[in-house]
Amino acid sequence: MSDLPPAWWRDAVIYQIYPRSFADANGDGIGDLPGIRSRLPYLRDLGVDAVWLSPFYLSPQADAGYDVADYRTVDPIFGSLDDARGLVADAHDLGLRVLVDLVPNHSSDQHAWFRQALAEGPGSPLRARYHFRDGRGALPPNDWPSIFGGPAWTQVPDGQWYLHLFAPEQPDFNWAHPAVADEFRTILRFWLDLGVDGFRIDVAHGLVKEEGLPDIGQETSWHLLDVGESPCFDRPGVHEIYRSWRTILDEYPGDRIAVAEAWAPTLARVADYVRPDELHQAFNFSYLSTAWNAPAQRAMIDASLAANDAVGAPTTWTLSNHDVVRHTNRLMRDDQGEVAGKKPTAVDPVAGLRRARAASLLLLALPGSAYLYQGEELGLPEVIDLPPSVRQDPAFHRATGQDGYRDGCRVPIPWSGTTAPYGFGPDGGPSWLPQPDSWADLSVAAQDGVAGSTLTMYRDALALRRKAVAGQAPLTWQDAPEGLLVFDRGTDFRCTVNMSPAPLSPEAPGELLLASAPITVDGGTAVIPPDTAVWWSL
Ligand code: BGC
Ligand code: CA
Repeated sequence: MSDLPPAWWRDAVIYQIYPRSFADANGDGIGDLPGIRSRLPYLRDLGVDAVWLSPFYLSPQADAGYDVADYRTVDPIFGSLDDARGLVADAHDLGLRVLVDLVPNHSSDQHAWFRQALAEGPGSPLRARYHFRDGRGALPPNDWPSIFGGPAWTQVPDGQWYLHLFAPEQPDFNWAHPAVADEFRTILRFWLDLGVDGFRIDVAHGLVKEEGLPDIGQETSWHLLDVGESPCFDRPGVHEIYRSWRTILDEYPGDRIAVAEAWAPTLARVADYVRPDELHQAFNFSYLSTAWNAPAQRAMIDASLAANDAVGAPTTWTLSNHDVVRHTNRLMRDDQGEVAGKKPTAVDPVAGLRRARAASLLLLALPGSAYLYQGEELGLPEVIDLPPSVRQDPAFHRATGQDGYRDGCRVPIPWSGTTAPYGFGPDGGPSWLPQPDSWADLSVAAQDGVAGSTLTMYRDALALRRKAVAGQAPLTWQDAPEGLLVFDRGTDFRCTVNMSPAPLSPEAPGELLLASAPITVDGGTAVIPPDTAVWWSL
């Protein structure tokens, strides 16, 4: 869509910070805002355009901060509002934009509104800001399951039940109530006034429920990418909310944006969230769940671009986040359909990292905006052997839930040193999840400036992306043997990825810019090993 005005976010690289696991300044074992501030120069040097911070608001931490008790207060474990202001100011000074996470589908059960609702009792208008209902005899009001397992309803002492699509500590707001919509417009303005550049919208597809909360009529848990028609996800009414938010974002100077976490059944339905008068971006979970083979990748890339082009939005690409198995492990599985909720299995770490690096170079060559998850630039693997006693994912003990194994991608970042906590916090200090002994070699310090390290590859890729991969230039596929993906961006950049199990020897089309693993070029022919991506200047 070359006739659209350039806007920073259309081809931005946005780095997800999971605050509790990034950097711990005060030594309590939990990452915090001062820790993030101290590491912003690292992110500037890495070469990203923006950061997205997972929630740091006041919260009992029943779901690691996705249970918000006060949307305008920073939880003391993370710091203060002044720290947030300082972080935004420092980031802007370094040329980095800041997105914060907004959690509008549900609050914490400790939110003032929910406590009032409980205190006031059945029939109180204050209960109407959530979904309170009488049960059906001893049974909950309907048959909806919670995404974290078990029923989506919890009974309170006076006999009524309240709806929670996630944990019982996360009651769903009733978005049909005007006070809820008003409150969130105010919250948006609060953070925009503080200077943030935008929002990641949690469970953006969930806010509106079908009137009457009808049964779904099947005994199942939700499968996020194939729920089909559902009484509580991707209802048409959500779009009205995002239109109203867009007008607020547009009132502010500086290209403020929002990105939807919207799990909808088709790419076209996801694209509805990024129509010109709605949000700016939506995560492309269909791509994240695509198997590592050339036909599947090519088809999904084409389908993603087509769906977003149809509404004039940039496509986003991502391989990892705080809810899914890290792509060092996940891409080794044949079955990519279930992106989360499956117990991650052991993989050959060398082969896993090799494939992950190739996938990351491919991703960074695609047109649109790329989302990186902290630690992927270090090649961190999923930690698969955390003992149950340290796991904190609220779904872990609800065996039927969708997301029970998310702690393994949330282990704190190794920055330096040879023993845990590897510079995450003060020497010898704790970290809220234990880090593997093998992470000394993966720390930032261990990889900094080292030729061939994953960190060096990401830094090189992000620098080249600005220079050599034309911002919005369209992607054109080139003919290639089976198992090889070859595409150009514009007229002077090519990306070649060997997804076959054997080396392939295409023509070397120009100057080698970067490769995810060593390749040889001899007399105009390149030998590209399996699971290797190469960037060329034509
Ligand atoms: C977030 C999860 C969270 C859930 C409930 C999501 O999709 O990314 O981490 O558990 O919403 O807020
Ligand atoms: Ca701390």
